[in-house]
Amino acid sequence: MFLGSPKRDPYINATIELQGSAEHGGQLFRMNCAGCHGIGAQGLLGPDLHNVSNRRSDAKLIKQVVGGTTPPMPSFEMEPQAMADLLAHLHSLS
Ligand code: HEC
Repeated sequence: MFLGSPKRDPYINATIELQGSAEHGGQLFRMNCAGCHGIGAQGLLGPDLHNVSNRRSDAKLIKQVVGGTTPPMPSFEMEPQAMADLLAHLHSLS
């Protein structure tokens, strides 16, 4: 859970500075997210995530995943590198 401006959060800053692997991010997605968002991110219980990176900033996307602010979506704890990989995967969903 983050307080204050997302731009100044050290976890978000660290994640945004890293180079993410969309391939590893895809694996993480299939393990952790596909149950609710669908194996192709087409949406099930959770919304369709195609083009989500055009609608939301990276800081917002990171907050969505680790913040736990929109139940029933749980909060995920992951290293900044894993989060950067997941972010690269979300960017690839167009
Ligand atoms: C238990 C089901 C569940 C799981 C697991 C889950 N989500 Fe979600 N997700 C949701 C729901 C429901 C919403 C809509 C929340 C809201 O805004 O009310 C959501 C919203 C989102 C959004 C915002 C979509 C938008 O249009 O703004 C993103 C991005 C997202 N999820 C990514 C992920 C990622 C990445 C994972 C895996 C790390 C994940 N979710 C795992 C249920 C889930």
